[in-house]
Amino acid sequence: STYDLILRNADIATAGDRYTADIGVRDGRICAIAQGLDASAAREIDARGRLVTPGGVDGHCHFDQPTSDGSRFADDFLSGTRSAACGGTTTVLPFAAQQKGRSVQEAVDDYHRRAEGKAVIDYAFHLIVADATRDVTQRELPALIEKGYTSFKIYMTYDDLKLDDRQIIEVLATARRHGAMTMIHAENSDCIAWLTEQLLDAGLTAPRYHSSSRPMAVEREATHRAIALAELVDTPILIVHVSGREAVEQIHWARGRGLPIHAETCPQYLFLSAEDLGIDPDDPMHGARCICSPPPRDKANQQFIWNGLSSGLFTIVSSDHAPFNMNGSDGKRVAGDDASFDRIPNGIPGVETRLPLLMSEGVLKGRIDIHRFVELTATNPARLYGLYPRKGTIAVGSDADFVVWDVFPQGQEKLLSNDMLHHDADYTPYEGMRLRAWPGLTVSRGRVVWQDGVFQAEPGSGQFLPCLRPRAPNDGNPLDKWL
Ligand code: URP
Ligand code: ZN
Ligand code: ZN
Ligand code: ZN
Repeated sequence: STYDLILRNADIATAGDRYTADIGVRDGRICAIAQGLDASAAREIDARGRLVTPGGVDGHCHFDQPTSDGSRFADDFLSGTRSAACGGTTTVLPFAAQQKGRSVQEAVDDYHRRAEGKAVIDYAFHLIVADATRDVTQRELPALIEKGYTSFKIYMTYDDLKLDDRQIIEVLATARRHGAMTMIHAENSDCIAWLTEQLLDAGLTAPRYHSSSRPMAVEREATHRAIALAELVDTPILIVHVSGREAVEQIHWARGRGLPIHAETCPQYLFLSAEDLGIDPDDPMHGARCICSPPPRDKANQQFIWNGLSSGLFTIVSSDHAPFNMNGSDGKRVAGDDASFDRIPNGIPGVETRLPLLMSEGVLKGRIDIHRFVELTATNPARLYGLYPRKGTIAVGSDADFVVWDVFPQGQEKLLSNDMLHHDADYTPYEGMRLRAWPGLTVSRGRVVWQDGVFQAEPGSGQFLPCLRPRAPNDGNPLDKWL
């Protein structure tokens, strides 16, 4: 037969189009899109009446990342990518994290070993630059960009990761010169340290005080500073995990000045709030399940994030999947059952629930349209990180990565519970939410990896994706605009 797989009568939605057609797949790629495709295939699936979107591209997730506090990420590349696939994601961009005093290349080699033989969907790596020495910015990063590692994440907080402003500038200058993208974790480290000390001195140590130690001013100031540094160097950046109004306002202000500032948000800022870190009389650690940074804010801030999604302010929605178990001694409780908030690992799971939550609460409730959904969750992350059009769309020549959706009528929603998820984390912060949609079928490079509740993919069948440069290198003098 001519094709390996034909998906018939698909109601295809991309960032720009919506139409019904058959999709012909051969050797992992989309070879034909036509109405009434006159061909046969080894396997045919009828998608009549069902919505089909590009496989999700999760531009921000953490798998199997070494930690410095004795805790352990609940997901490695097998369980993490399995969970992604079952939630409709076909490409992930986790991080290869440099350690201070070590080379970036060492981190890259280490993460390839962690992913190989495990990943079930395709993956690329962002580089966490934790030690921006001259050798790193002048030699290592340019060489790594050449090899397909074209995006960096840098931190303005966390003692073992943070860069000072000068180091941030050096990384941004490298990104500009070589056409890479820089993601910035924007929180003011000294403010957090001082607030934390005040809280602990006052005996305010419960999980909920994590929020008090990182109020919006902390994120707003760092966001503004990151924008200013990017403006000085004259290069685009992405502000990751934007949590609420005040950071949104900074980005809005920057956009108004014509600055190329991209922004990411995550489901936790749409569906969780500071109250979720509150005290459960039966389990003081309960709130730890929703500890992440920046912390979830309140309902009014959730609305600001929704507005930013529909208005075009945000470029992408990622999961920031950073799973730690609630039970056991190597997760959220690594420092004990009554550890102060500052000793609880930061991060929450969400690689599988990202698309269903946004489809259900966003598209099906009319907050964003289907094209915007595709753009935020697949097309834009692929573009931003040099994977488009291989990833992030449904088009002839693109990889055959797509999702066929099950949509449930009102009153017959799917009750979300951790039992149905495929990560190795022992909880989901979204337990009990009612979902109007879930991927019924996920196809990754032509392989059916998830169908009717069954996961089926060989560990190691995912491929490493070298990324293209997201834009042209710029050898010009960044000072020109200031002279
Ligand atoms: O709390 C979070 N988000 N942990 C994951 C690491 C990060 O900063 O993205
Ligand atoms: Zn971060
Ligand atoms: Zn993260
Ligand atoms: Zn539309």
